Formats: sequence, C-alpha cells, structure tokens
Amino acid sequence: MSSKLSLPQNSKMLKRDFTYGVATASFQIEGGVEQRLPCIWDTFCDTPNKILDASNGDIACDHFNLWQEDIELIDSLGVDAYRLSISWPRVITKDGELNKDGVDYYLAILNRLKNKNIKAFVTLYHWDLPQHLEDNGGWLNRDTAYQFKHYADLISQAFGDLVYAYATLNEPFCSAYLGYEAGIHAPGLVGQEYGKKAAHHLLLAHGLAMPVLKANSPNSQCGIVLNFTPCYPESASEADKAATSYADDYFNQWYIKPLFDKQYPNICQQLPAHCQPDIQAGDMEIIAHSIDFLGINFYTRAIYRHHDDKKFEELPARAPRTDIGWEIYPMAFYELLTSLNDLYTLPPVYITENGAAMADKITDSVVNDTDRIDYYQSHLNAVHNAIEDGVDIKGYFAWSLMDNFEWAEGYTKRFGIVYVDYKTQLRTVKASGLAYKHLISERT
Ligand code: FCB
Repeated sequence: MSSKLSLPQNSKMLKRDFTYGVATASFQIEGGVEQRLPCIWDTFCDTPNKILDASNGDIACDHFNLWQEDIELIDSLGVDAYRLSISWPRVITKDGELNKDGVDYYLAILNRLKNKNIKAFVTLYHWDLPQHLEDNGGWLNRDTAYQFKHYADLISQAFGDLVYAYATLNEPFCSAYLGYEAGIHAPGLVGQEYGKKAAHHLLLAHGLAMPVLKANSPNSQCGIVLNFTPCYPESASEADKAATSYADDYFNQWYIKPLFDKQYPNICQQLPAHCQPDIQAGDMEIIAHSIDFLGINFYTRAIYRHHDDKKFEELPARAPRTDIGWEIYPMAFYELLTSLNDLYTLPPVYITENGAAMADKITDSVVNDTDRIDYYQSHLNAVHNAIEDGVDIKGYFAWSLMDNFEWAEGYTKRFGIVYVDYKTQLRTVKASGLAYKHLISERT
C-alpha cells in the first residue's frame, strides 16, 4: 500500500503536454431538479427496487448550487482538464428550443474554467435522456437520433469556443445494453430485441452530431467515449475461446467496429431477425464519420466460458475486487489499449474514465485510501506501457472528481478522489486526490 503515485522518469506521461483531468456527469452530481425537465433516471429512481439504497438524483452533490466551490476544488488539484456532461433536459425545452437559464448555467461554468485555464471536455449525453423523448420510444425510436443532432447543434452554437473537446455520447453500451436489454439502468427495458436497436440509434445520433459539431465548433476536438470490459476465456479450450470472442463482439467491438470499419461484427447476422438493428441505407457511412479523438473508459475485465444453451457464460469476478465487486486486473487495460491499436487505425486516445470504488472511511477529516492509490498506480503504469508500445494516448481522467450518485448502486459506492459528506455537502480531498495532485505537479 502506498501513499504516492509515480511513473518512470522518462515517461511521456510526465511531460506537460500530457493532459490530466477529473471527470463527472450531470445526473450524478448536479441535483437542481426543479430547474430542468424530468429525465429517464428520475423516473427509474422513482420505480421501486431499481436503486440499491432507494435514492435519487434530486440533490446528489448539490453541484447545481456549489459549482463555484467545486471549480475551486478542481483547480486546487492542479489538473489541466475537467470532463463534465451537459444535462440535455436542462438546456432544451419540450418544444426543442434552448432553455436560456440552463444554457446560462453551463456558460458560467465554462467561462470559469476558461478563466482558470482548465480545458473543458464536454460530454453531450451521459445517460439523462429527457423523459418526454422516452415517452416517444426513447432510443428505440429513430427520431431520437435526430433530436440529439438538433440538441447538439443548438448547444454547440451557444457554447461558442468555450469547449476544448466534445464527446457526443458516453458509453453507448451502457445506454443500450444496460438500459434497453438487461434492464438494470434507465429506462429499464428487458429483452434482446431492444438492445441492438437502441445501440444503432445511439451510434446514428453520434454520427449525425459529428459534422454539426465540427461546423459549429471547428477548433474543438470532437469524438465519442466508449467503455470496454475486455473478455478473457476461462481456459484455452476452443469452445471457451469461441464463447469469449462472441462476448467481446457483443459487448465491446459492437460499438467501435462501426466507427472505423462501417460495419457491425459478423455475429450480427446470427442474431434472430427480430433482434437485428434497423439499418437504413447510408447509416453506416453516417456512423463512421471521422473523429478527432477516441475516449476510452476502463475499469475491469470479464471471464467467459462455453455454455451449451447460451452463447456464453460469464463467470463471477475474481479477487482482488474493488468495493463494487469488479476485479482489479490492470493487465487487461494494457492489453485492451494495444489490441485496439492493432485492430483499428485509432485517432489520438484519451482515457476518459478510470478509477475505483473503495470502502472509504473518513476520520478526523482524513481519508487514507491507499487501496485506491494502488489501483491508480497500477492502471497508470498500464497506460504508460501502452504508450511505450506505440498507442497515441494524450491524456487521462480520474473517475471521479468526487463521490456521487453511482446509478443503480445509489450513494453506496464511492468513486471520488474527493470525499463527499452527503449530509453537509462537505468535500474532503482523499489521500488519492493528494497523490494525483502531486503526480501532476511533477511534470516537466
Ligand atoms: C461508468 C460511467 C460513470 C461511472 C463509472 C463508475 O460506466 O460512465 O458514470 O458511473 O462507470
């Protein structure tokens, strides 16, 4: 267990042009629900037994009111960049027009970041779909992709040149699979017939928004953020390897292959007809619009074996595990980055999320989260090694700036490098936050 973070002396990650940041998302930190339209996560939180502690995003970290202090906090960590998301239901009205108050709220944040010389990495969709769009079919309705394009158009005009980088979507896998197939995220639909249809409309939304963002904000870097859970076979048997490859195509390659190869993995043809995405002529061209950067989120891996009736069977996570039950396996991060670099012609890459939930204890205003520091250390090493092996990685964002609403886990899991006392809203920088700050300050 250590209290410091370090990198080899010659590491490119110790140069000033390597970007370090912290990340958050609107629904997870803002609160301020009265000042926006309802979204699918409000509805999901109101549905019994969906959120572990029966909580919701009504107050969260009260960042809606505390944003000025929070930007001071971000600044105090010495980071170069802040990755935040825009709440679509805060900035767009039911009639599809800009909501001035919501836009002004984000303009104030973006201007403050600019004054402090902190680059704004803005995600346009981090899962908080306006409820009225869900009532119209949500991501199962092709029209939602066009609604997203419209929102991206209006908001990028309003933000002018305040945004260093735009990501269209955060983790379309989670929106599509967890939200519309497994039912463990909002809107909570269950059924294989929904997941890939939703995924296609999400990717279409991304592709439709890309040229609009480039036209409105030519100096911004524009891309998308994908999450990957690398798949490993339980044994070297052909059956286990085939099952694992299927899972990898289904969960991971599904979202990246269309961006670079203009097609879904071959397993698409094996899906029953009613589970196929509704692909219209020209869609794959739209989806494969060139991107300036790829954001990669990584937390853990998964292990699979052959199953006689299902395509694959996922095994329980092995130890060591974080507080959310995810295996700590940094080698998968390195192997992911190098394998994606082999498979695709990648644009510059940013690690847009990486971090760990730990069972933090606060005593006398100190959180001594050496376990989280160890997680960061091993994963920063993995990024360093991937860069050494030729992957063009430009930056790294810790998930998260502060503890927050962890979706179906509510407030029971803490991912922050800053501790949040939800009763008082007091923020306390954890030992991991201090270690991150120190690492960043060591660059030359
Ligand atoms: C990612 C999400 C992020 C956070 C982390 C732990 O899937 O993008 O909002 O919840 O997981």
